[in-house]
Amino acid sequence: MQHDGLAAQGAGATAPLVLPQPERLALPAGAVQVWRLDDAQVDPACTRLAQTLAPDERARALAYRHARHCNGYIARRGLLRWLVGGYLHCRPEALRFTVSAFGKPVLQWPQARLAFSVSHTDGLALLAFARDCRVGVDVERRAGGLDIAEIPGFGRGIFSAQEAQLLARARPASADALLGIWTRKEALLKALGTGLSADPTAYTTEDDWRRGAGHWLASHLGTPISGWTCLDLDAGAGFRAALAVSLPDASVTWHRC
Ligand SMILES: CC(C)(COP(=O)(O)OP(=O)(O)OC[C@H]1O[C@@H](n2cnc3c(N)ncnc32)[C@H](O)[C@@H]1OP(=O)(O)O)[C@@H](O)C(=O)NCCC(=O)NCCS
Repeated sequence: MQHDGLAAQGAGATAPLVLPQPERLALPAGAVQVWRLDDAQVDPACTRLAQTLAPDERARALAYRHARHCNGYIARRGLLRWLVGGYLHCRPEALRFTVSAFGKPVLQWPQARLAFSVSHTDGLALLAFARDCRVGVDVERRAGGLDIAEIPGFGRGIFSAQEAQLLARARPASADALLGIWTRKEALLKALGTGLSADPTAYTTEDDWRRGAGHWLASHLGTPISGWTCLDLDAGAGFRAALAVSLPDASVTWHRC
């Protein structure tokens, strides 16, 4: 398996936004491409991409109360359109998205066979793409030193018994362990398409030492979910991120505009 998901990607200084040329975008079978959009790129991206949005997407953008959130949505959705358009060799504004009963965006395009997942947190958005599979990505900002497990009710209804035990052992420095499980689980549930409307406690994620640091396994009510590639992603010091893809030996690469 080849991936650079574990190599430091650092938030770092952000270069000016240069959108990739659509004709140069290619997504081979077995590859997962993870694009990052840092907050500093949001305003230039949304200026360039706003016109590619459909009327319902513009309406959603305008419904945000804060310009920051409005621009963030425009940039994320515009970049999603730009990249999907490039992979499918069509204009971004020609694409149509609907939403599943569980809130998952669904691309309406004949035989697209393109899977994608989007996640954002304060400072960063990630967009993951792959072919002929299911893919989910999640990113969260690290919560610096806090013992989140001390917050009453936090994580209740999210963790399996096995995960809860692991978190109890990790205390008081449990914040990072908790965020690790949280991002893994959201990535998995987004790949499955249910999001948190499935019972998250029915799923367990755990380190996969056989495959090496950063790899993890998932199971549902004790039955392993096999044939997947599940990875922690290094999105920089301030973030925890994870990726789940229903391909056994995926090749994961980072990309940025
Ligand atoms: C999916 C979910 C886990 C995301 O949580 P989050 O950490 O707050 O947000 P993230 O930034 O990581 O992800 C948001 C993105 O997930 C995607 N998403 C939403 N629901 C999804 C689902 N069921 N499956 C996969 N992806 C989903 C969307 O692309 C969304 O981006 P957008 O708001 O720009 O369109 C959470 O929103 C959820 O569980 N939603 C489902 C709840 C549901 O059943 N809703 C039904 C009525 S809509």
